[in-house]
Amino acid sequence: MKKLLTSLLLSWLIASSLLRADEGMWIPMLLSRFNIDIMHREGFKLTAEDIYSINKASMKDAVMIFGGGCTAELISPDGLLITNHHCGYSSIQRHSTVEHDYLTNGFWAMSRAEELPNPGLTVTFLVRMEDVSQRILAKVNDRMSEEEREKTVREESQKIVAEAVKGTIYKAQVKPFYLGNQYFLIVQKVYKDVRLVGAPPSAIGKFGGDTDNWMWPRHTGDFSLFRIYAGKDNEPAEYAKGNQPYHPAYYFPISLKGVHPGDFTMVFGYPGSTFEYEPSYHLQMLVDELYPKLISIRDKKLEIINAAQNADPKVRIQYAAKNARISNSWKRWKGEIRGLDKLDAIAKKQAFEKKFQAWADENPRRKAKYGSLLEEYAKLYPDYGRYRLNSSYISEVFLRYGIEAVGLARSFLVLEDMISLNYPKEKVKAQVEALKKRTEMFFRDYDVQVDQQLFLALLKMYEENMPQEYWPASLLKCQGKEEKYMKTFYRKTLFADSAKMRQFLDGFSASSLKKLKKDPAYMLADEVSGIFAAKISTPLQQLELKKKRLDRLYMAGQLAYHQGEHLYPDANFTLRVTYGQVKGYEPRDAVYYLHLSTLKGVMEKDNPAIYDYHVPEKLKELYRNKDFGPYGEKGRMPVCFIATNHTTGGNSGSPVIDAEGNLIGVNFDRAWEGVMSDLMYNPAQCRNISLDIRYALFLIDKYAGAGYLLKEMKLIR
Ligand code: ARG
Ligand code: GLU
Repeated sequence: MKKLLTSLLLSWLIASSLLRADEGMWIPMLLSRFNIDIMHREGFKLTAEDIYSINKASMKDAVMIFGGGCTAELISPDGLLITNHHCGYSSIQRHSTVEHDYLTNGFWAMSRAEELPNPGLTVTFLVRMEDVSQRILAKVNDRMSEEEREKTVREESQKIVAEAVKGTIYKAQVKPFYLGNQYFLIVQKVYKDVRLVGAPPSAIGKFGGDTDNWMWPRHTGDFSLFRIYAGKDNEPAEYAKGNQPYHPAYYFPISLKGVHPGDFTMVFGYPGSTFEYEPSYHLQMLVDELYPKLISIRDKKLEIINAAQNADPKVRIQYAAKNARISNSWKRWKGEIRGLDKLDAIAKKQAFEKKFQAWADENPRRKAKYGSLLEEYAKLYPDYGRYRLNSSYISEVFLRYGIEAVGLARSFLVLEDMISLNYPKEKVKAQVEALKKRTEMFFRDYDVQVDQQLFLALLKMYEENMPQEYWPASLLKCQGKEEKYMKTFYRKTLFADSAKMRQFLDGFSASSLKKLKKDPAYMLADEVSGIFAAKISTPLQQLELKKKRLDRLYMAGQLAYHQGEHLYPDANFTLRVTYGQVKGYEPRDAVYYLHLSTLKGVMEKDNPAIYDYHVPEKLKELYRNKDFGPYGEKGRMPVCFIATNHTTGGNSGSPVIDAEGNLIGVNFDRAWEGVMSDLMYNPAQCRNISLDIRYALFLIDKYAGAGYLLKEMKLIR
């Protein structure tokens, strides 16, 4: 009887742990083994093979990496793809000028001939993936140092990759899963001719801007359309006018049926990174140290950039993408701090760690393997946290949208190395050409007055927050006279003056190096790199290696501890499936957020005094006339919806798919109360935000008058 009870209890425990739907980002190749039954129980009607197969056309053939960090999906047999407006943003910006301001007015190709090429933009397909853990892990052992281990893994990976791509046009990589406990080979195919087809005006595609970013209720029409072109053989080709639209093995049918609470949804895309298995010390580091410091630097940057953008329409365009990038993580960090606090995440991790420790101590083998991990973490984190902070601080001030002239100057340091190492002349020349391109792009989006303000404000913060041993010599010298230093700096430097820069690069020769070495921006960049190399990168790398070892073992320990449950691997920018259901949530006491937003909400937010809330006249007119065509629902026009799918950065642009496999939305964000899902998921609060596909169709057809595009789609009514 007792035995029966335990086995009943056991199967119940396993079943209930399997029942947990929403959380997790799953490997498409393994769905049939671990997930498909749950997915069916949740309402999914198709098979695992319909999602991922190497034997027949499947959904994976219609989902791509878009550019470097987003997802996109195919919606026509002629290579038409949809992604987010914010993913196409820099392409749209690049085609925009004050005269042809596609960011402001939108862009719609009215025929294929009008589609705009985007040099450098690619889409990447997954051809196949394969578990290569055995081959890699056979080469390593526990006696190896972490460096040796890394090297061995790297070498074996290179072999595997070389074999995989031999005689093909593919590209491949081996990626660690479960923090180095498992390895997969990922084989990819890259298309390079991707043209802009359509984008709504920012007042729709970025409606709500950074005010509403990361928030629900949301009313953003966050989509843009591109088309993949291929050579005559349908294979990848460099851009050429005569290339043909790509004909995919699969594309998504689009459902006009709409969403209802409780409906099954699935998101298929490229989540970038998550940190679900970190120890409590990690959360402490983020919440107590790193995030607050980084938030306050970015407060400052945004204050300066926002004011300049409000004062000058040219600066508004120039700094649009930079602003969005700076504010995006800034706001997410704030949400993460709050969400982790509400979850009591640190205490939860600590409680787990207690149980884990007791479990490890239970028997000698486990104790030898896992018994000291938490103690080692405790010793590591004070140093690790300090170095991470210093490294991030330097980079925030001088490199990542910090003082811009210094960031640009840094990319010139390589010239000095090349010349002193006697690189052949052609190599140096090629580098100069590359720098010419880079500086041209740089100056398109550069305003020297903004940079001067950043310079003063950021140097001051640097002085206040960084120990003197990390101060560049120029800063030590100018202390107390920063304003004067700033003035000389910008008067003398090449890196803030496009004409001087052009002249310099056009006449570049080995002797130009002298001039470079006297340039104040170059000097500062050089000093900062020197400090970084001497005082940060080596110790930080060593700490990271130590942490990597602990992470791998702790992950292995957690897998063993949770035996019988199937844990999902952290996101690593490989193709994943996450499933859940359409569902509202309660953000705070006595408030309930519905699952769907509509055009009425756009009109309610309309406010000519707030830039993020300007509603285009034409949209108002369509609304007044209730001219929603077949896309509306009971006199309403749906705009966005939320669901419980576990997503993260990189999932932007991912297809949101219904139980029948049809496209019902395009993922573009998460709700602020739940952004800590990268560190700990809370089913009550975590929601992904999707554009309702009907809103996109309505905009293409009724707003843009580009209804001809709908003819190539497969609409399910
Ligand atoms: N938060 C979304 C993401 O992480 C959207 C970002 C772009 N939108 C914006 N308003 N900045 O990428
Ligand atoms: N906007 C994010 C992206 O660009 C997706 C939102 C998230 O982090 O979940 O990938």
